[in-house]
Amino acid sequence: MNLKIPILVVNYKNYPEILGRKGVELANICQEVSEELKVNIAIAPPTPFLNTISKEVNIPVFAQHVDASPLGNTTGYITAEMIKEAGALGSLINHSEHRLKRDSIKKTLDRLKANGLYSIVCARDPKEVGSLAKLKPNLLAIEPPELIGTGIAVSKAKPEVITLSIERAKRSDREAKVICGAGISTKEDVEKALSLGSLGVLVSSSIVKAKDWKKSVRELAEPLLYHQI
Ligand code: G3P
Repeated sequence: MNLKIPILVVNYKNYPEILGRKGVELANICQEVSEELKVNIAIAPPTPFLNTISKEVNIPVFAQHVDASPLGNTTGYITAEMIKEAGALGSLINHSEHRLKRDSIKKTLDRLKANGLYSIVCARDPKEVGSLAKLKPNLLAIEPPELIGTGIAVSKAKPEVITLSIERAKRSDREAKVICGAGISTKEDVEKALSLGSLGVLVSSSIVKAKDWKKSVRELAEPLLYHQI
């Protein structure tokens, strides 16, 4: 399976709404919408649920974090081999809620690549996007931390952060691909993000905490239809 763009990435985080079978239910809904609309949707459930969820759906499943540690005497660490075995296509790295040092990001990327896994590396500002683009992850995700979980979309509140991030990323690596997240809640937020050049969106609370998951996933996925790349 390949990672295709434009894409909606649904980060489950560790919200109580997605524990156990509920996480599988949301995965199935994401798959249904992906098939109905023919758009790319990936999900990032907590690590303990990767295996169960990957067995039930055929959309891309990502870990929310992976360690650079190898297999062996590395008690408690999550290795790239393990998430692959659990059915993940890749992992988020350096999420704002799970920050890593640059050196760890580089080592983790090397481990993912060695295992044939994809990477979505998060960054807090355009400067960090530019710097991390040099490590050539598959996707970079710009997420201003102050907007995460607020319902105030980065694409509307800080559009310049997206355009500048794309500019900085391309300056470091012409092939760099940037998506964005933080506060994305409506169809218009996604449309705006895509019109600014973002190749997708990374969304959590507005979907996970929605009363009607299907309605919410569909609303945020629809704009991808008109931005096929
Ligand atoms: O990883 C996505 C995330 O940090 C954005 O969260 O709740 O603002 O969509 P949220």
